[in-house]
Amino acid sequence: MTRHRAQVAIIGGGPAGLLLGQLLHREGIDAILLERRSAEYVLGRIRAGVLEQGTVAVLERAGVATRLREEGLVHDGVEIGFRGRRHRIALKALVGKNVTVYGQTEMTRDLMDARAQSGTTSIYEAEDVQVHDVTGITPRVTFRVHGVAHEIACDFIAGCDGFHGVCRPSIPADRLAVFERVYPFGWLGVLADVPPPWDELIYANSERGFALASMRSPTRVRCYVQCGLDERIEDWSDARFWDEFRRRMCEEVADRVTTAPSIEKSIAPLRSFVVEPLRYGRLFLAGDAAHIVPPTGAKGLNLAVSDVFFLHEALRDFYREHSEHPLDEYSARCLRRIWKAERFSWWMTRQLHRFPGDAFARRMQETELEYLFESEAAQKSMAENYVGLPFQPR
Ligand code: FAD
Ligand code: PHB
Repeated sequence: MTRHRAQVAIIGGGPAGLLLGQLLHREGIDAILLERRSAEYVLGRIRAGVLEQGTVAVLERAGVATRLREEGLVHDGVEIGFRGRRHRIALKALVGKNVTVYGQTEMTRDLMDARAQSGTTSIYEAEDVQVHDVTGITPRVTFRVHGVAHEIACDFIAGCDGFHGVCRPSIPADRLAVFERVYPFGWLGVLADVPPPWDELIYANSERGFALASMRSPTRVRCYVQCGLDERIEDWSDARFWDEFRRRMCEEVADRVTTAPSIEKSIAPLRSFVVEPLRYGRLFLAGDAAHIVPPTGAKGLNLAVSDVFFLHEALRDFYREHSEHPLDEYSARCLRRIWKAERFSWWMTRQLHRFPGDAFARRMQETELEYLFESEAAQKSMAENYVGLPFQPR
């Protein structure tokens, strides 16, 4: 058995775990990070694309925003496509804030580079990770790497291991309240090297189902179509995907879509999910380990960032001021933002997707969208939520 000691054991090397490690490192708090997969595997997962201003500010504070500032695409608005027309929600004009399009993969790469430079310990391909004694003052984490058993003794465990991780299930079921909604569809996403023929993201509500036109750079698009939960990726050739995508976009956009072989193609189910509280003893949950939003509101990564920002502040105050109070407040502080993002993501999902067999829901959707396009107050409300809530450092 190889024994390690750290102030914090971080489980999960996605954006939440990596960013927490970086923020703690800058406060002089040492943390060992454990990831089940290889670094290449983590970088190969294509996910989020939209960062709130508050998220960019945290990344700047963490010292990992150099490339983001150079390569991130600042967007002052987003569009909603409906009945063949595009309606712009002027984020900047309405609420004075913008969003930045920068792939989660790029953010992850920046964080991995910073971690490598900081000389802190990251252990990839950690198998059979288990947490122990989290209600005592010296929790432990055990795992194996290439058959060798390891143990970390620590003060705190950060559960940043995503929706399918081990931390949340290790909490007794009667200590967690679970809130969940599963949607009857998923998103099929394609990444391709073609210049986007749109300047801003287009969220399209069409009779054939939802589609999203997004991008990663001036030469790379990321596009999605709503699909059935039972659909298989093998049944979606690139040609079929682009044909369906075009049919769901309004004509002026569809006519300008050029295609290229997909670099990545994947299906993601849509789910709303929250557990309360985000703490059990000295185990703290952050990011997708504690909550999932459907991607329609572009909130998941942004919530992961705000959670770990709050967690790093609470840990900093614990070590600096011997104050437990911020740790006690952590869950409630996160949950205020989480529920607002859950509400918005659920609202966007409901307004933009096809819910088969629900004619009443369709009429409500049409009426709601018409109201949105007519009412500046409604647009302002959407813009406020899309750009994200302000969050004050403690
Ligand atoms: P994850 O990224 O899931 O990372 C968890 C890590 O823990 C993984 O690397 C995993 O391998 C590791 N792990 C799991 N189990 C173990 C274990 N037992 N031991 C050790 N390690 C373990 N969000 C936005 O804000 N904006 C968007 O535009 C957006 N678009 C999205 C589009 C799609 C199609 C999808 C699927 C998601 C999107 N999201 C978006 C959501 C966003 O990608 C997630 O919320 C984000 O990845 C959460 O980060 P995380 O670090 O909490 O979890
Ligand atoms: C993306 O670019 O992957 C993306 C953008 C906006 C969303 C979801 C995903 O709401």
